[in-house]
Amino acid sequence: MPIRNIVYRHLEHGGDLTALSDYEASGGWKALETATAHMERDDVLYALHRSVLRGRGGAGFPMGRKASFIPKDAEKPVYVVCNADESEPGTFKDRAIMEHNPFQLLEGIALAGYAIRSRHGYIYIRGEYEHQARALDRALEAAYSAGHLGPDAHGPGEPFDITLHRGAGAYICGEETGLLESLEGKRGQPRLKPPFPAVAGLWESPTLINNVETLASVPPIIEHGADWWAQMGTEKSTGVKIFSVSGHVMRPGNYEIVLHDTSLRELIYDICGGFRPGRDFKACWVGGSSVPVLTKEHLDVALDYESLQAAGTFLGSAGCIVMDDSECIVRATLRLAEFYRHESCGKCSPCREGTMWMVKLLDRLVNGEGRPEDVDLLLKVSGRIQGRVLCALADGAVAPIASAVHLFPDEFAEVARNGSPPPTPMIESTAGAAA
Ligand SMILES: Cc1cc2nc3c(=O)[nH]c(=O)nc-3n(C[C@H](O)[C@H](O)[C@H](O)COP(=O)(O)O)c2cc1C
Ligand code: SF4
Repeated sequence: MPIRNIVYRHLEHGGDLTALSDYEASGGWKALETATAHMERDDVLYALHRSVLRGRGGAGFPMGRKASFIPKDAEKPVYVVCNADESEPGTFKDRAIMEHNPFQLLEGIALAGYAIRSRHGYIYIRGEYEHQARALDRALEAAYSAGHLGPDAHGPGEPFDITLHRGAGAYICGEETGLLESLEGKRGQPRLKPPFPAVAGLWESPTLINNVETLASVPPIIEHGADWWAQMGTEKSTGVKIFSVSGHVMRPGNYEIVLHDTSLRELIYDICGGFRPGRDFKACWVGGSSVPVLTKEHLDVALDYESLQAAGTFLGSAGCIVMDDSECIVRATLRLAEFYRHESCGKCSPCREGTMWMVKLLDRLVNGEGRPEDVDLLLKVSGRIQGRVLCALADGAVAPIASAVHLFPDEFAEVARNGSPPPTPMIESTAGAAA
C-alpha cells in the first residue's frame, strides 16, 4: 500500500494524538523548538520555499513563495490565517486533522507565523464543524498551558497567539477574501484582487492565508528538512497529499499518498476496493466538485498536479468523487449545478444569473422536458459566465458541467430526447443474480 501517514501522524500512533503528552511523545513541537532556538526566521521561510510545498486548499500555489510576498518591514501587524472552512463537495480531509491531530496544525500555524514575523494567527473553521471546533479549543488550551503558544512561543519575550473563529456555514467563506471579510465581521463576499491578502489582507494588514493541510505539513518539513519532503513526488508536485474519496467505491475514506506514485486506477481499485459487484467505473471529479470530470480513458493518470492538468483537470482539494455506471451523468451535473446556484454569493450577475439558468436547463433535461438545442444552450450560458466574474466559484461551477457535456455527448443527447432514467438505488437487488 502506498500510504504514508505524515500529515496524518496520528494514524502511526494509535489513531489519536489529541492528548498533548501523546503528541509530544510522537516528536510534536520539536520543529517549533528547533526553529525558534536554532533557525533564523528567514531560514524557515527558505525551507518552505525549497520544499516546494503547494497549497492544499485548491489552487496549488507554492506556500513558500506566497509567504515570501509578506513584507519583512511591515508597519502594521502581520497575520497568519488558517482556512478551515472545508466546504468543497467531496472534501473531508481537514476535518480529520483537526479532530485527531490538532497540535500538528497549531504547530504549523506557529511555524508559519515565525517565518513571516507574525504574532497572531487565526483559524477560521466552518460553522458545521462543531466537534472539530471543540477539539481545537481543547488543544489550544493545552498548548497555552504548556507554553507552546502565548508570550514566549517564538522564544523568550516573542509571543504568538492563535484565535479560533467559527464561521456560519457558507461555501463562499472558503474563498480567501470572502473568509477575511467574514472574519472582520462583514458579509462573506469576495474582494476585488489585487491587492492580494499578502499585501492587504485581514484589516488591510499583510496576511498569509493557507489551508489546514498545508499548514499541518509544515512541522514535518522543518523537522526532517525541505530536501526530505522535496524528494517525494516530482519536481513540481512534492511530498504527500491526502485524498478524500467518496461515492460509489467500496472503501471510501481519507488516504495520504506520495504525489505521483499512485494512479487514479490504483486509488480507486487497490486502495478503495473498486465497485459493487456488476458495476464499473464511469466518471470521477478528482479535485472536489469544481474541476473538469474524468472518464475511463483517464484511469491511468498519475495523481499529481502536472499529470492531472495534462489530463484536462486539476488536483484541486483532492476531494475525489467517484461515480459508477449506475448513475446518469446529466442528473449528477444537475445536482452540482444546484449546489453552485445555492452558494453563489450573488455579487456578480453572470454568476448569480448563470448558475440559475444552468439549473433550469439541466432540470428540464433530466425531467424529460428538454429540447435537443438545450445542450448547446447550456454550453453558451457556461461560456458567458467564465472570465466575467470576481472569484473562482463561477469557474468552478462551469468546469464540472461543461466538461461532462463534452465527454458524454451521447448521454446528454439521449437525455435531451427522453429525460433521465430513474435513479438506481444504492443498494441494488441481487435476487435475480442469485437465481
Ligand atoms: C468558492 C471557493 C471556495 C473555497 N473553499 C476553500 C476551503 O473550504 N478551504 C480552503 O482551504 N480553500 C478554499 N478555497 C481556496 C482559497 O481561496 C485559498 O486559495 C486557500 O485558502 C489558500 O490556501 P492554500 O494555498 O494553502 O491552498 C476556496 C476557493 C474558492 C474560489
Ligand atoms: S463569482 Fe459568484 S460567488 Fe464569486 S463573487 Fe461573483 S457572484 Fe459571488
